[in-house]
Amino acid sequence: MKINTSEFIISAVKPEQYPTDDRVEIAFAGRSNAGKSSLINTVCNRRKLAKTSGTPGKTRLINFFLINGEFYFVDLPGYGFAKVAKTEKDKWGNMIEKYLTIREPLRKIVLLIDSRRKPTEDDIAMYNWIKYYGYEAIVVGTKCDKLKRSEYKKSEKQIKETLMLSSEDKFLFFSSLKKTGVEEFLEMLDEAFE
Ligand code: GTP
Ligand code: MG
Repeated sequence: MKINTSEFIISAVKPEQYPTDDRVEIAFAGRSNAGKSSLINTVCNRRKLAKTSGTPGKTRLINFFLINGEFYFVDLPGYGFAKVAKTEKDKWGNMIEKYLTIREPLRKIVLLIDSRRKPTEDDIAMYNWIKYYGYEAIVVGTKCDKLKRSEYKKSEKQIKETLMLSSEDKFLFFSSLKKTGVEEFLEMLDEAFE
């Protein structure tokens, strides 16, 4: 697949605000700061389509981007950010959960994990949740520009083993900084439309 156009559509807090045109959706989930919004920008070849930040908790709403006029990328708020007040966390948790449980057009979930870190309890819960609801996952080890050559194998093993990744799910490394994994990611996306 090639991404030719990408367009911000809406930041939604509640389901009434989600798009109503029934186009397929690909959602991006992961810890705060994992690199979700950056990945969206990188694969769309846009610098500021999705807002990014070095401070965790940048994306606070559910953002819909229309891709090639055909389907949506859905940028979800990150979870697991310690410095957010509990009330705020509950609000985000509810928002994400509501989207994921009721969303008919949702076809695939991309789960982003910082490749330098062991997946957390939250990551495991998210992965199990994805499987429980019968979705296939694309698991992305992000920020791989920070790994040494010799660390790739260990990182992949750690992510796959900690999540207990099932064989039907895909894994790839990605770097928004170096643009590593863009082609591979777009190929995996093709399969979501088969
Ligand atoms: P939330 O919106 O808080 O959930 O975070 P997010 O997952 O959308 O992360 P975001 O894309 O905003 O990136 C967080 C930070 O990581 C920013 O400072 C980015 O510049 C940095 N970052 C993202 N991708 C990469 C990457 O591939 N390599 C490196 N070195 N840094 C990255
Ligand atoms: Mg974000």
